[in-house]
Parts: sequence; structure tokens; C-alpha cells
Amino acid sequence: MSVVVLGSINLDLVAQIDKIPVPGETRLARSMVTLPGGKGANQALAAQRMGAHTIMLGMIGEDAFAMQALKFLRQDGVDLSHIGVSKTSPTGLAFIVVEEGGQNAITVVPGANAEVGSDALADLQQVLGPSDVLVLQCEIPLEVVERAVITAKKVGARIVWDPAPASKNLPKSLFKADIVAPNQGEAEILLGVPVTDVRTAKIAARQLRSRGAQVGIVKLGAEGVVWATSRGLFYQPGEEVQAIDAVGAGDTFAGALAARLDAGEALGDAIRVANRAAALSTTKTGAQSSFPWLKDVPGL
Ligand code: RIB
Repeated sequence: MSVVVLGSINLDLVAQIDKIPVPGETRLARSMVTLPGGKGANQALAAQRMGAHTIMLGMIGEDAFAMQALKFLRQDGVDLSHIGVSKTSPTGLAFIVVEEGGQNAITVVPGANAEVGSDALADLQQVLGPSDVLVLQCEIPLEVVERAVITAKKVGARIVWDPAPASKNLPKSLFKADIVAPNQGEAEILLGVPVTDVRTAKIAARQLRSRGAQVGIVKLGAEGVVWATSRGLFYQPGEEVQAIDAVGAGDTFAGALAARLDAGEALGDAIRVANRAAALSTTKTGAQSSFPWLKDVPGL
């Protein structure tokens, strides 16, 4: 049993700033760090740290950024034997500003991530088994994500889809993933309905099911998480933490959820663990640098 992640690998340039600039504004940052990132790579690291044997499929460039981008995945023992190297595009980059209180704004330059294609899909067919969990996002070409869903359905593997970054007309077939888990803002974009609180999140979670998902999850950040299944609607409140940086919290949730499902945990338990792990990740700077290990998650 493994978690297989097909997705993006980036190097994150993270600036800490008092307030995220508005269009046309220039602001001075307090400090800057360079850290491994990318939604796919982040989810792979989170899954590995939460106890899963994890395989990462994606692409990097032939540059110095690549080694930095893969540093934590390598240290933590994620299987990187299927990472492709582009001869023409650089490793993906993300320019991130994090303001006081932890909110962020991110610009991604996809680079080699845009070249993830048939080689990665061939590798996916090779590694994915019926008892595995496949994790997908939207930072590689969407037609590749669609084909990965078809592959996983054929194989009988479960699919966790984190529809980020979200956009209005994402392919309908992606909603057929077993679990679809947007955050509040992404749910609004995907469904075209306001999601402002637990009540409206429950409506959105149900709508995700009516689009084809077995389980619709809406992550509400500090307010917790709501999910809809064939058995009804559920809510887990947020954890009390001192949040300083929310970058990668959604990725922690997706990776941790996949890992705990892969370990055989019931859905509700896996979601509660993922909720705690995501909250913990907001207490430190950066994405991967903030991800907890299973032993760090309280109550386990
Ligand atoms: O979800 C956070 C991630 O989004 C960052 O690590 C950045 O690389 C972008 O992909």
C-alpha cells in the first residue's frame, strides 16, 4: 500500500511582509527564505511524514533549484525514482508573500511542471495498485490530471483530488475523484456559491457530491472542516494554534488524509488527523519546513 502523488515540484521564495501589497503598490519585506514547495511535492512530503510509503511523480529542470526543491523529499525517504528531468524548462518557482497573521499570496511559474505528460502517466500505470491512494492537484496540465483519474479508476485505487489552484471551468471528470477537498475560496470558485461559514460549507460539500465525488470536503482554515458522504454531513472544528504562516496547510491536509486512509483508518478519523496536522503546519514558516510527523500530532 502506497500513496502516489502526481503533481508539481517548486522552489518557494517566501517573503515575510507586514501586509500583502495591493496592485501597483511596492512594499519592503522583513525577511526572505528559499524553501522546497509545490503542491504535489508538499502533499507527498506530508503523506510520507504521516506514515505512508510515498511515491512522487513529477518533473524538475536541469538546474541548481531542483536539488533544493527535492531536499526534504529525499531526506524523508519519498520514492523519487520516477521524477523526470526537463532538458528545456527550469524547475518550477513560486513567489510567495506572507503577511502578519499568516495569510499569503502566491505566484507560480510552472517551468518543468508544465511538461508533466505521457512519461509520468506511463510511470503511474506502472506503480499504482488497487490498494493505493492517488493524490492529484491542478499545478500540472489538466489533461494529465484527467488521464490520471481514468488510470486510477481502472486500477481501482482511491483518488484524493485537491482542486488547487482552482478555476471556474475545471474538467467535469475530475469531480469523479473519490474525495474532492477544496478550501473555502476554491469551493466558491468551483461551485459558484458563497462559502462563508459552516452552514454554507455544508451546502458546498453536498454539491461536490452531486458533481460526482463520493466524499465532498470543504476546508475552512481555522474554523475547521466540513464533509459530506452518503451517510450525511459532518463537521470537525478547527484546532487552537498560534498561526503564523498558512502556506502549505491545505497540502498538509491532503497528504495526511491520503496517508491515514492508506493506513486503513476510517474516513472521519483520517479527516480529524489531517485537520490537526494542517493546523500544526501553520505554526511554522513555509510549506514543507512546517509539516509535522505523525508522532507530533496530538491525540494519536
Ligand atoms: O500550496 C502551497 C504551494 O503552492 C507552495 O509550496 C507553492 O510552491 C505553490 O505551489
